Amino acid sequence: MMASLSSLASGPSFDGLTLEPAHLHPELLDACADLINQEWPRSRASRLHSLGQSSDSFPVCLALLGPPLAPGALPTVLGHSRLSRVAAHEHSLLVETVVVARALRGQGFGRRLMEATEAFAKARGFHQLHLTTHDKQHFYAHLGYKLGKPVQGVAFSSPRSAAIFHAFSQLASPPEPKAPRPCRKTARTPSTSDSRPGPNLPPAPPSPPPLLSPLLSPPALSPTGSPQQSLVETPYRDIRGRPIFWMTKEI
Ligand SMILES: CC(C)(COP(=O)(O)OP(=O)(O)OC[C@H]1O[C@@H](n2cnc3c(N)ncnc32)[C@H](O)[C@@H]1OP(=O)(O)O)[C@@H](O)C(=O)NCCC(=O)NCCS
Repeated sequence: MMASLSSLASGPSFDGLTLEPAHLHPELLDACADLINQEWPRSRASRLHSLGQSSDSFPVCLALLGPPLAPGALPTVLGHSRLSRVAAHEHSLLVETVVVARALRGQGFGRRLMEATEAFAKARGFHQLHLTTHDKQHFYAHLGYKLGKPVQGVAFSSPRSAAIFHAFSQLASPPEPKAPRPCRKTARTPSTSDSRPGPNLPPAPPSPPPLLSPLLSPPALSPTGSPQQSLVETPYRDIRGRPIFWMTKEI
């Protein structure tokens, strides 16, 4: 008899969860795409393309898997996260696209997903995770993440993606009077075939491109010299001007 998705939250199956790289389970890519599209709708082709970039040498898409809902069925995709290398931080990874199936939220799967993602990164020699969030900063803080500064993930597949990073890194209010725009070279756009292995293995990612002027000219600074931020207020904005929190955790 087929079980319901929510029944996975109780009973022995709860302890039978695994976190698996999506590229090792091509048969589960459709389910991963559906799960992510539940939250952030995009065309299936585009979503499958992103998932298809997953590799052992990063970025890697990770699926939180539970037991099949019916005998002989595929494992159930309960959650997803993605890890990318961080430019100029060879021991860091950027966590993105964290999502738990709607029907299962609030039952501990988000914690399991994040803990397993952290264990995955740590086992590969990484010491620090970074992420951004619009509104889940309290969830991440509860799991030990602290407010942090922007970093650049090495997972961009197009100049537009790199531009999005810069937009996500922008501080809310440039100082007055406006500082002159510093000279800078054109930002390098890392390729999708960027396949540098972990810190135990060869070379670190290249240095990031020079920061945009808003980052070079921060607004109000705290006594420590960092932009003022809290779990209710952030100096950073996304491409649409919405507040975005940068968070980090040592693992
Ligand atoms: C964010 C998300 C992954 C959390 O998953 P979840 O399964 O609902 O979370 P859990 O039930 O595992 O919660 C884990 C812990 O965090 C706490 N928590 C969850 N949401 C919280 C919140 N908004 N604020 C504070 N604490 C929160 C829970 O109380 C729980 O605490 P406990 O383990 O000490 O009992 C899930 O809600 C989701 O997929 N949301 C939509 C996608 C999204 O916004 N992703 C984040 C993008 S940055």
